[in-house]
Amino acid sequence: MVRSVIAGIGSYVPTEVVTNDDLSKLMDTSDEWIRSRSGIEERHHAPEGVSCSDLALEASRKALEDAGLSPSDLDFIIFATLSPDQNFPGNGCYLQAELGAGPIGAMDVRTQCSGFLYALTTADAFIRAGIYRNILVVGAELQSSILDFSNRGRNVTVLFGDGAAATVVSASEDADRGILYSELHADGNFASCLQMRVWDISRKPYISRDIFKSGAMWMEMDGPAVFKHAVMSLTEVADNTIKRSGIKAEDIKYVIPHQANQRINLMVAERLGFPPEKFLSNIRKYGNTSAASIPLLLDQTYRSGMLERGDLLLLLGFGSGFTWASTLLRW
Ligand code: COA
Repeated sequence: MVRSVIAGIGSYVPTEVVTNDDLSKLMDTSDEWIRSRSGIEERHHAPEGVSCSDLALEASRKALEDAGLSPSDLDFIIFATLSPDQNFPGNGCYLQAELGAGPIGAMDVRTQCSGFLYALTTADAFIRAGIYRNILVVGAELQSSILDFSNRGRNVTVLFGDGAAATVVSASEDADRGILYSELHADGNFASCLQMRVWDISRKPYISRDIFKSGAMWMEMDGPAVFKHAVMSLTEVADNTIKRSGIKAEDIKYVIPHQANQRINLMVAERLGFPPEKFLSNIRKYGNTSAASIPLLLDQTYRSGMLERGDLLLLLGFGSGFTWASTLLRW
């Protein structure tokens, strides 16, 4: 039986650190407000001239090195992002060229903060179907360019950061490791709760003249609605994953949840009856890096020596769409 294992992982964040105090010089906010509402203290922002695929390239090189593979060993690339370099072509194509991976297939996944888990599940399906053996699965975001740094955007801007992480997902005949179970969900009825309406293809031309004035070029969010649905959906998908996969909750070593808000994750842990220390977190230093957040946390957990071969991990994602997802894997 073929299973999909994470054979290599790596991450990269731009060097510039932006603290809550830095943001409070640009808009009416405070370190106390941001910290108490979200658990975030700082985030990283990429400098002008750096693109999302540039961040992904750094992370991908580290993941390939960790796997002991070179770009020519890859069979396919799946790139999850909500902040692609251009509207098209997709970032998978840019990354493929920058890596020099040859003419392998490359595609983007556009399911926002659940994007990495959608991409991972897609890679798992390709591998278990016997189509590919080594797939680069990337989650990367350059969100500092799509945030409104005026007071209008303060409820969103303080939460998000830039970063990238990549995994090499490989076929393995080792039955004791790999992806065991995944669930993917979406409910487009809530699309307007977290969106960026930068263009409207039903209009001619598709970008309006008053785009700057209307704020349509920035991320917009109904924070309380997102919060409520994130807690409900993450609790439900975690609960279903445990029941449907037939594992025991106490056998899960760590939950690696999407890093949107520390309060969301603590509420989910409490509802599931999990000790809070089982729900890992790095939001304090990175904010919400959307599709990069789960693999970034996974990479840091791995590199800090906290993971042992065979550990059972539950990965949980929630984001714009709404989309939400889970993956259960044995490390
Ligand atoms: N600094 C200071 N005050 C702010 C602020 C900021 N950065 N952003 C909003 N406020 C103000 C609001 O204007 C509002 O003021 P008012 O009461 O005078 O109208 C007040 O704070 C409370 O706003 P509200 O949106 O109700 O706050 P909240 O307690 O719901 O917290 C969030 C706001 C955004 C932190 C919270 O809703 C949240 O985290 N939601 C989920 C976001 C998320 O996870 N998104 C990504 C999903 S992938």
